Amino acid sequence: MDNKFLTTGVSDKFQLFPREMMLGIQNSLTEKINNLNLLLNSSSEKRRIDEAVKAIWFDEEILKFNQDKYFKEFYIPIISKITGKDNLTKFTDATFFIRVNLPKIKDFYSEWHQDAGTFLYSNSIAYKYKSYTLWSCITEGLIDNSIEFLSKENYVEKVYNSEFKKSKRHGKITFHQSMIPFDENKIKKINLNFKPGEAIVFDSLVFHRTVRKSNKIRISFDLRLFSKKDEELITKRSLISRLKRFVFDLSGVKLY
Ligand SMILES: [Fe+2]
Repeated sequence: MDNKFLTTGVSDKFQLFPREMMLGIQNSLTEKINNLNLLLNSSSEKRRIDEAVKAIWFDEEILKFNQDKYFKEFYIPIISKITGKDNLTKFTDATFFIRVNLPKIKDFYSEWHQDAGTFLYSNSIAYKYKSYTLWSCITEGLIDNSIEFLSKENYVEKVYNSEFKKSKRHGKITFHQSMIPFDENKIKKINLNFKPGEAIVFDSLVFHRTVRKSNKIRISFDLRLFSKKDEELITKRSLISRLKRFVFDLSGVKLY
């Protein structure tokens, strides 16, 4: 187990996939990224930009990262080594996502949040258990367009309230914003450069957000694993978030 991970909730970064393997994927993506850049620079309609993003989401090479063999050979062993948890498995949903971080577009961008907070309306297993996210860059990710974390040493370790909003893009509902228990200007953030194929692991109570200060597109994927053991149940949660879940379980009514 990584002791630093235990106190901060964030691992060191590491090379998840060999560089050569990532070079092959970059080649297959170049045309799609160039196309997206052209659309962004010519301020094209949102519909066309969405289509170009979807071409990346459904890129065959990238979707291979969601195959079981990658979970068995790469993700489960490395997350287990870092967290010290065994019996790690996938959720039935909310497991694997491809992210295209686009300059100039407000969507596909996450403000400060905890992954545990965004699971409020996922299935009840995902809501109950702590999970571990592996985040990996497919393109290069730099400090101005990758991801930023706040160590758990900076706030009380619990799930804070998250607000959701109606969405046409992400099913019927999507994460909007979280209550943040810190002054972000006074706290040192963990913000790193990633080469293609480099990754980092963090737990579902760690506050993190997308960084988008650059004009360069960044593509990454993230996935979540959890261990269905009693000691992994989330015990501390804000009253509002518990109340929302209670109403949702009882009646299916979503409290935004
Ligand atoms: Fe997240």
